[in-house]
Amino acid sequence: MEFQQVVARRRMVRRYRDAPVDPAAVTRILHAAARGPSAGFAQGVRFVVVTDAGTRAAIAQLCDESRHLAQGFDAWLSVAPVHVVIGVRSDDYRDRYAEPDKRRSRGPDGWQLPWWWVDAGAALALLLLAAVDEGLAAGFLNVARPDAVRRLLAMPPDITIVGLATLGQPAPDRRSGSLARGRRPVQEVVRYERWSDHQHAT
Ligand SMILES: Cc1cc2nc3c(=O)[nH]c(=O)nc-3n(C[C@H](O)[C@H](O)[C@H](O)COP(=O)(O)O)c2cc1C
Repeated sequence: MEFQQVVARRRMVRRYRDAPVDPAAVTRILHAAARGPSAGFAQGVRFVVVTDAGTRAAIAQLCDESRHLAQGFDAWLSVAPVHVVIGVRSDDYRDRYAEPDKRRSRGPDGWQLPWWWVDAGAALALLLLAAVDEGLAAGFLNVARPDAVRRLLAMPPDITIVGLATLGQPAPDRRSGSLARGRRPVQEVVRYERWSDHQHAT
């Protein structure tokens, strides 16, 4: 698929067909996600892929799917055939930025930004786009009880859970109320040369 088409087709899908996904496609999607950039090449993003039905049901419970259902939304997590828990190991950045070539770029006052969140976002974007490229859909949500999910998946304590991505074949879903806000015009979010110059925006 053309890259611009992939970008245009991507949307957060919150309902899936109850059908398994080709494991080879899942592998390709995760390879794309793991291929993202990282500060200092620290590579601190981690993924746990879950397909086991019982574990997905437990994750759905820990992410308060019942509350989602009570608000009139469709079953999302319990049906999505693939869950990907995205986490970061911030110690990878502390270790990397303690190395001689990086020690000074961290700055005397600590991190200019906690770069691991940036890297997790880049990985998420790649995962979402790679899913569309495979003819699948993906969604992302906040994990309400990260410590319980960490225990369920036997994840070590130095991994911070960023959120949960779902993968699968899309089913018609109820769109998020947030979309009523509309997308900001590109002229508002993209400026050329100087903040106040709208001349060249298209
Ligand atoms: C960091 C982040 C957190 C999000 N958390 C949730 C969430 O907890 N639940 C949810 O339904 N959607 C969540 N979303 C999806 C956004 O609501 C969605 O991206 C936005 O409404 C725009 O819709 P689109 O991605 O389909 O274009 C999240 C998105 C991002 C990037």
